[in-house]
Amino acid sequence: RIAGPCALVLFGVTGDLARKKLMPAIYDLANRGLLPPGFGLIGFARRDWENQDFAKIVHDSVKERARTPFREEVWKQLLEGIRFVPGTFDSDESFQTLKQTLDDLDQSQGTGGNHAFYLSIPPKAFDQVISQLKKHGLAKRDQRGAWSRVVIEKPFGHDLASANELERRVSSVFHSQSVFRIDHYLGKETVQNLLALRFANELFEPIWNRNYVDHVQITMAEDIGIGGRAGYYDGVGAARDVIQNHLLQLLALTAMEEPTSFDADQLRAEKRKALAAARPPKDIAAHTARGQYLGGWAGGKQVLGYLEEEGISPQSQTETYAAIRVDIDNRRWAGVPFYLRSAKRMPRRVTEIALNLRRAPHLPFSQTDTEALGSNALVLRIQPDEGITLRFGAKVPATLMEIRDVTMDFAYGTSFAESSPEAYERLILDVLLGDPPLFPQHEEVELSWKILDPILDFWADLDTQPEGYASGTWGPASGITMLARDGFVWRRP
Ligand code: BG6
Repeated sequence: RIAGPCALVLFGVTGDLARKKLMPAIYDLANRGLLPPGFGLIGFARRDWENQDFAKIVHDSVKERARTPFREEVWKQLLEGIRFVPGTFDSDESFQTLKQTLDDLDQSQGTGGNHAFYLSIPPKAFDQVISQLKKHGLAKRDQRGAWSRVVIEKPFGHDLASANELERRVSSVFHSQSVFRIDHYLGKETVQNLLALRFANELFEPIWNRNYVDHVQITMAEDIGIGGRAGYYDGVGAARDVIQNHLLQLLALTAMEEPTSFDADQLRAEKRKALAAARPPKDIAAHTARGQYLGGWAGGKQVLGYLEEEGISPQSQTETYAAIRVDIDNRRWAGVPFYLRSAKRMPRRVTEIALNLRRAPHLPFSQTDTEALGSNALVLRIQPDEGITLRFGAKVPATLMEIRDVTMDFAYGTSFAESSPEAYERLILDVLLGDPPLFPQHEEVELSWKILDPILDFWADLDTQPEGYASGTWGPASGITMLARDGFVWRRP
């Protein structure tokens, strides 16, 4: 599937995301032959740049981060459609220039009047940019049926009320089919494979329910700290940053029923139902935990604590570790807790979904023989070592009947010669193709906030510092206690 003629306008070209992910992804798409010859890339920012200055930024980020090899002819082709518009979000003149630039590109590059506006900017600026697009006639389909789409990066609001307000404003300008909300986890190959695993096989479905699954752990651990993102992260925290979106989307895909087809409406309807059945724990104090990293060691280097990071207020109550229990009130999952956790400065970067199965109802072995036997588990390794692990017990050779846990592994790297594209490649291409299944709808955003809001309110009311945990460890004691209360322990992936 190759995108048709179009131009992509990037707001926020000086930001990390644009440089590290978006620009390289655009080049990789071009390199894979998935962008049309009539393609334009416009950067918009408050910088005194010419086209060639912006082109150099794109070039450098491509050289540094692109997944595919640099090819001069691909770059030259891309370069022909690169433009820069210097400007500010409040300036009518800047948006006039943007419109003029798009019109010129439509003529010179044949971009066909199709425009995607990618808002990789702080959420507080969304409203202004969207209003400007409307005011300058950039948000409308024109008579030739050309399209105009807007791409919004999470966070979608700060809580339910602000998310609804954002939606009200966006939908007053763009039709819902033209709004693409990016949750880049949905663009990851391994996340899409969750659907293949569940619905293309006969092996797993019979056990995918409360009769066999004891509890589910969804972990997104990062070894990095907040880096240079203090301005964004402080006041946001782990729950809003990733649980509200990435982890609840993973939960929805794990818990949902089979959609009648994979078209956007069907898929999203099933996710919505799963999220609607999910609820925060009854006892929030007992079944959530939050922490903040202290100084320590990470990756062989000494690192600062969160409160010592540049740009962080020394009294900040922002959590860098969040863990919550979610219960799903439906026939499939009643009584099966889902535990979600995410944190910065953990021992390693790993994202996984682990379905822990019930113990065998009866073990006809002596107790000593089964001491090292855990419960069966199916672990979907989302990243970085993408694959699937099945854990079960096997007899230790040369013993009478000692049984120990072993694993059976599927690894993408060894089973497939094809390499996985970056999540943003897939998502940008889908925006240009107008293909919606991988983009969450507002209802999903709303339902996710409904799960999280009571927890966030509870934490805010505590008005205390999150519990400290040393950098390079698996989080605060309250995180461990939260599971221990239910008789479980967190996996050490
Ligand atoms: C982003 C969060 O959505 O995801 C970041 O804002 C986080 O805080 C990042 O570091 C992780 O993405 P990935 O793809 O590296 O797991």
